[in-house]
Amino acid sequence: MVKRISALLFAALLATGAIAQTVKIGVVNTYSGPAASFGEFGDRAMKLYMKLHANDLPSGVQVELITRDDGGPNPDKAKQLAQELIVRDKVNLLAGGAFTPNALAIAPLATEAKLPFVVLNAGTSVVTTRSPYLVRVSFTLWQSSYPLGQWAAKNYKRAYTLVSDYGPGHDAEAAFTQAFKAGGGEVLGSLRVTLQNPDFAPYMQRVKDAKPDCLMVFIPAGKTATAVMKTFADLGLAAAGVHLIGPGDITTDEELPNMGEVALGVHTVFHYSAAAERPANKRFVEAWKKEYGASSTPNFAAAAAWDAMAMIYAAIRQEKGKLDAERTMDIFKHWKNPDSPRGPIAIDPQTRDIVQNEYLREVRKVNGQLANVELETVATALKDPWKELQPKK
Ligand code: PHB
Repeated sequence: MVKRISALLFAALLATGAIAQTVKIGVVNTYSGPAASFGEFGDRAMKLYMKLHANDLPSGVQVELITRDDGGPNPDKAKQLAQELIVRDKVNLLAGGAFTPNALAIAPLATEAKLPFVVLNAGTSVVTTRSPYLVRVSFTLWQSSYPLGQWAAKNYKRAYTLVSDYGPGHDAEAAFTQAFKAGGGEVLGSLRVTLQNPDFAPYMQRVKDAKPDCLMVFIPAGKTATAVMKTFADLGLAAAGVHLIGPGDITTDEELPNMGEVALGVHTVFHYSAAAERPANKRFVEAWKKEYGASSTPNFAAAAAWDAMAMIYAAIRQEKGKLDAERTMDIFKHWKNPDSPRGPIAIDPQTRDIVQNEYLREVRKVNGQLANVELETVATALKDPWKELQPKK
């Protein structure tokens, strides 16, 4: 009897649209280790978006996040977690991939399962070529480091580069070097350090001895960025006249308070700064602080996850909560937002990569706090330069 009543009730609720149709998003991100900020900031942004946009969903539709910790650059673990989310949890979408090796490991699963995979960070250019079901809302290292090289060539003659020895580091090195040399600069040397637990001191000493005008560094954002900054200061490179520059990963907003004064004057090129004056960013930061406290500030991982949710919500609305992979990919490929916290953004339908502005920033003190102050827009509606500069087949 009870069973029959609940079945009837269920049917009635379905008919009125009151019963929830749940869209499950399986998130494989980094929630522990030195890069734990990716998962923490990503989740905060997604949850904030869901809270503020609950009324934007079709009636009866709800969104559920199922989150899993890959612990850092750990492709086998990321693959296993994605597999479980697909097979056991039957997610409708995958999201995440803070680290390139992890995103590369998940890509073939997305293809096999025909499941859209929204890359929230991994910045090596090649990532999006690994599955037609992959779309990237974050950035590429070529997007930041190529304009950085162009800017640096106008300001410095001799550069040194120091990067993490894996995909995004190689891309940052290649992009910066190509642009810097094309602008007339000379690269005195290029160092690559291990991705996990590097000791920067011997490398910084070599750079100091070579006396370049600037040192371009890429390391994954998070605690490693602070370690770079501290070693740079401890070994007296700034005092020796070396100017520290890099993609914005090296001055990630949430680590600035931990870096301290040594970060002052560092120039970076990046697509997102919490200090940006755009009204959409001011609204984003205000909503963030209201939710998570005045001392918490969003970072680029938060901006990526926020935009990812806006894109996913657009698909959910258009498909009335019943996601079909091909339709969803088509919506993603043509998605744009003229008013994201980071400025106008769009997905390039050819490459499924983000198209966005890049800003030159300098770390300055604003109201007593360190901030990435945007000085100028150095590239507008920039597609991934690596893909653009490839000889066309
Ligand atoms: C990456 O693995 O692609 C990656 C990780 C951290 C960053 C940027 C890129 O800050």
